[in-house]
Amino acid sequence: RKIIKAGLLGLGTVGTGVYKLAKRQKEEIEKKTGVSLQIEGILVHNIEKKREGVDPSLLTDNYRDLTGNEEISVIIEVMGGIEPAKTIILEAMRAGKSVVTANKDLVAVHGAQLYETAAENGVDFLFEAAVAGGIPIIRPLKQCLAGNEISDAVGIVNGTTNYILTRMFEDNMEFQEALDQATELGYAEADPTADIQGLDAGRKIAILASTAFHSRVVFDDVYTEGITKITARDIRYAKEFDSVIKLLGIARQRDGQIEAAVYPMLISKDHPLATVRDSFNAVFVHGDAVDDVMFYGRGAGEFPTASAVMGDVIDVIRNMQYGCTGRIGCTCYRTTPVKNPGD
Ligand code: NDP
Ligand code: HSE
Repeated sequence: RKIIKAGLLGLGTVGTGVYKLAKRQKEEIEKKTGVSLQIEGILVHNIEKKREGVDPSLLTDNYRDLTGNEEISVIIEVMGGIEPAKTIILEAMRAGKSVVTANKDLVAVHGAQLYETAAENGVDFLFEAAVAGGIPIIRPLKQCLAGNEISDAVGIVNGTTNYILTRMFEDNMEFQEALDQATELGYAEADPTADIQGLDAGRKIAILASTAFHSRVVFDDVYTEGITKITARDIRYAKEFDSVIKLLGIARQRDGQIEAAVYPMLISKDHPLATVRDSFNAVFVHGDAVDDVMFYGRGAGEFPTASAVMGDVIDVIRNMQYGCTGRIGCTCYRTTPVKNPGD
């Protein structure tokens, strides 16, 4: 059986999930693609650290062991951050390797350059896991809903803050204790201020707006406000009004004008978003033909995120094998000014 070799960048929460899933789903992947997927090497920061169930001979702290390995045709980037991830990805693409990433920090700022480099080198660049963890949303927007003019992609796109707000509401838990739990559960970013200040959600909204409106919206275009100012008193007031507080991400287009923002909102307990608890996310999409569609599921964590990453990897393999899915990268951009609260 033909073997496709992949290089994994990162073996933290998501990388471990991808590694385990590649093992667990070995036969499934073979059934679905006709080839065998093999993780050929893994980039980590700390090569001395013990990693249960992982063959230590796979580990490296030199990324060129992977980008320079001609047998590797797919790079799975789950290390996070802008650099060195960006340099490594660009180098990998230029070496003819397709790239799958969960890195919204990078896509929200340098997505255009990465798309263009992928297109120039005839490789795939996929990032389903970068928005809303395990929920399929990028591919549905690009493919299944391509026949629509999308006007709204609105919802809860950060699992950590939704977990914190849920615990504060349901258990009267202190903010810090809830954040510690979210970190322990693997939902939070390496630097959780990105979650609680709304930056992580802002990055996802930039990606969603770019994808939904076939535009170029970058992180700096997004108005962001987090949940750090939400107090126990706010929670009490919300309860008195039969409401909950949710951190909403909003991507809207009206008359060619895009709004992209993240801020906490009081919403009625009867609203469907009020029932989205813990690390779950939900995104409402409105298209002119389909009307309303809602995407709901686990927005963070080891296996939900690995699920989205592996879906992309399988797509890349199918592309290599059959060229059947087509390259769904968005190489065509329209530059539209973004209008936000306060503008
Ligand atoms: P972690 O912090 O758990 O893991 C990061 C991994 O990358 C670690 O194995 C670390 O090595 C390695 N790494 C980081 N920097 C370097 C470097 N400079 N050189 C070599 N190795 C490096 O992150 P997560 O797994 O939580 O997240 C990974 C990516 O996935 C991020 O982009 C994140 O935003 C995204 N994501 C995360 C989700 C989640 O639920 N956690 C959900 C969706 C996306 P070492 O182990 O040695 O420290
Ligand atoms: N820190 C992110 C969150 C991970 O809590 O939603 C998923 O992107």
